[in-house]
Amino acid sequence: MTSGAAAMPAWESMSEEQVGRWREVLDGVAGMLPEGPVSVLVDGGPHTGAFAERLACRLRDAGRVRPGGEASGPGLRTVTVAAGSGWRARPPVGGWDVVIWLRSHRAAGGDAENGADIVIDLHDVTWPVIRHVAPRLAGQGGWFAAETRAFFGPRAAAWDAKFGDDVPAYTSAIAEAALPEGGSVVDVGCGTGRALPVLRSAVGPAGKVIGVDLTPQMLDTARAHGRARHCVLMLADARRLPFADARLDAVFAAGLVQHMPDPAAALVELARITRRGGRLIVFHPSGRAALAARHGRILRPGELLAQARLGPLLARTGWRLDAYDDPPHRFLVLATRC
Ligand SMILES: C[S@@+](CC[C@H](N)C(=O)[O-])C[C@H]1O[C@@H](n2cnc3c(N)ncnc32)[C@H](O)[C@@H]1O
Repeated sequence: MTSGAAAMPAWESMSEEQVGRWREVLDGVAGMLPEGPVSVLVDGGPHTGAFAERLACRLRDAGRVRPGGEASGPGLRTVTVAAGSGWRARPPVGGWDVVIWLRSHRAAGGDAENGADIVIDLHDVTWPVIRHVAPRLAGQGGWFAAETRAFFGPRAAAWDAKFGDDVPAYTSAIAEAALPEGGSVVDVGCGTGRALPVLRSAVGPAGKVIGVDLTPQMLDTARAHGRARHCVLMLADARRLPFADARLDAVFAAGLVQHMPDPAAALVELARITRRGGRLIVFHPSGRAALAARHGRILRPGELLAQARLGPLLARTGWRLDAYDDPPHRFLVLATRC
């Protein structure tokens, strides 16, 4: 059933670190597959065949599978692995149990990625990274921290060179939030800290600015850019922030909430650390439609950051939506802690 194996660097031509990354992803995916017979489709781009073969190999080692195979005998949990878009339209009886989408320059995303259970970034074929897992497969979300670091770590050093032009958009968004002079603000998922000098100017020298990120290389880069002069930098997870309840006047989150495995839980955690009347600023330096178009993706009306969905979600998680702005050049949401 496996078809269309595309050129993929052989194990022996990859570094030890790259082979380790592949192992981590294959082990992660194998561990997410439900018990019992499972049909898995690998779709998206030119590497579906090669990925499916590697996954089948990993599953064979674990005693679970044959590619395109039938039941393997008593006591064995069997996985059928298929590859290629053609199979999407020809599902087995009962449908595919798990669809894996491989994101790459040559994968025509459209709406196909939206329906996938597991999304793997394969722009760099030597460095796969899991970017999305459907909640029903994700367990306690144990995959998230390692994969986030694997994704952002190698990007940290070049981040500002690539996205440096965005700073004026951060500046005007933060000005609109009207943070209190002398107030305390945390930038959650601060990355290289592009917003930190702007947040410092907003709260002034008597204020407190904290930058939190999960990826050590992002914080190292922030320090290398001198951003520790403006704030305290902390390695921490937005899902469990090391702050007492209701301590902060504002939370800034750029490019974070929509990538969290459980965005509602993340918003509750942001609400926990913010005082009543405090501010939430959710920002991205491009609008949703512009970003989706850049990634070759179709924007669905019910997506997390759509106003019709985000408003009620904020209300359920301790926030009141004050402003929603989504033109091509930015995404900005301002909310107040209830
Ligand atoms: C798209 S980048 C945005 C970085 C920065 N906010 C900016 O606008 O340049 C997302 C950042 O969030 C961090 N991140 C993702 N999940 C996180 C989590 N659970 N806790 C803390 N940081 C997280 C990543 O390491 C990465 O640096």
